[in-house]
Amino acid sequence: MATPINQRIAFITGGNRGIGFETAKQLGLLGILPVISVRSAEAAQDALAQLRDFGVQAEAIVFDATKRADRQKAVDFFEAKAGRLDILINNAGVYLEGEPGIAPSFTASTVPEHVLRDTLETNFLAPVALTQALLPLLKKSAAGRIVNLSSILGSLTLHSDPSSPIYDAKATAYDSSKTILNAYTVHLAYELKGSTVKVNSAHPGWVQTSMGGSAAPMSIVDGAKTSVILATLPDDGPSGGFFHMNDTLPW
Ligand SMILES: NC(=O)c1ccc[n+]([C@@H]2O[C@H](COP(=O)([O-])OP(=O)(O)OC[C@H]3O[C@@H](n4cnc5c(N)ncnc54)[C@H](OP(=O)(O)O)[C@@H]3O)[C@@H](O)[C@H]2O)c1
Repeated sequence: MATPINQRIAFITGGNRGIGFETAKQLGLLGILPVISVRSAEAAQDALAQLRDFGVQAEAIVFDATKRADRQKAVDFFEAKAGRLDILINNAGVYLEGEPGIAPSFTASTVPEHVLRDTLETNFLAPVALTQALLPLLKKSAAGRIVNLSSILGSLTLHSDPSSPIYDAKATAYDSSKTILNAYTVHLAYELKGSTVKVNSAHPGWVQTSMGGSAAPMSIVDGAKTSVILATLPDDGPSGGFFHMNDTLPW
């Protein structure tokens, strides 16, 4: 039987570093209990110690987003911890088409099938499966919030506009994974209409993480802000949208 806790509780996948770690920190500083997913017990202890240094008490689940058993472990954890989940941030992601800030290693005509499969597995199939598994617990929250970490690189409108700043940034596997994650946001928001659960896609900005690279203009602190805004939306906030900070992005 779950012990009810009054504190809001959030699950952030890929919470040991980059935007996910910073999101956990910022949510923790707002009084929300951040539970981070981390792929090894050692990395979990390191991340929790770093969060404590910022004054944030967090918890961690050793979890690989692509493993069904680990997703069930997360369900069991939140069931036992709170009997509900308030915030799910599908943040874990991979970019498998080369080094950050450099032209992708492949084009649409050469991207290998294994790169497509591995990218879609982590960036699309895993967050969808995790969301489906945790949805019953999110529906038990008074204000369930789901944030899908997408990217402006998933925007078909901008990719097909020669005047857009991302027109030449074509990483087929990564971009496609974010486009279909956006499609899932729209479809799930439709299904959740009239419920207390909201789901939105976030573009964090081009952020100085391992994935974003050192040429990225945005700090990690600012890079977490869109996730935090969408995780803490008021009851009259949007659902089924695509945002950077408070701005709506084109699909
Ligand atoms: N940085 C940017 O400029 C930028 C721009 C647009 C969108 N995004 C999106 O924002 C999100 C976070 O990006 P980031 O820049 O913070 O990336 P990052 O620094 O590379 O961190 C990625 C995180 O995802 C975790 N992860 C990867 N595969 C996983 C799996 N199978 N299971 C569990 N965790 C896994 C990593 O864990 P390990 O430490 O174990 O590898 C790490 O914690 C991603 O979805 C990314 O696509 C980033």
